[in-house]
Amino acid sequence: MSEKKYKRAITYGTYDLFHIGHLRLLKRIANLAEEVYVAVSSDEFNALKGKKCIVPFENRKEIVEALRMVTKVIREDNWEQKISDVQKYGCDLFVMGSDWTGKFDFLKDYCDVIYLPRTEGVSTTEIKQDIKSPKGSSC
Ligand code: CTP
Repeated sequence: MSEKKYKRAITYGTYDLFHIGHLRLLKRIANLAEEVYVAVSSDEFNALKGKKCIVPFENRKEIVEALRMVTKVIREDNWEQKISDVQKYGCDLFVMGSDWTGKFDFLKDYCDVIYLPRTEGVSTTEIKQDIKSPKGSSC
């Protein structure tokens, strides 16, 4: 019998230039829930947020789908879909990194909400900046 507290978790993100912070977050979610659903933001939704991805949606989706701890990848098209996703997929846990703490507490009416600590020292934004102006070579 599984000892995991939750049956199905859901989390949202861009997952551009997939990095170790992304992987560790998903691993920690998989330690909490039997199934991990990931909503990856579409290029159109990112454009609405003023965000331009390096890697197109279909490729970001394919990378996340290939991870063994991920059960299913869905598409995130807007800010409003979270409640209906949680209901539609029967999720009992919603997880985000701690940069989002408090932002999605309205989902507590539908499932548990947890914000996990981010991995320090890495983000897509920093990777993009490092490529533009390298600080010095480490490999
Ligand atoms: N995340 C994390 N640790 C990091 C970076 C991201 O735990 N060092 C988590 C975020 O909190 C989020 C998920 O990974 O729950 C997807 O984050 P995303 O926004 O795609 O990654 P970032 O690297 O933060 O991207 P950006 O710099 O564009 O905001």
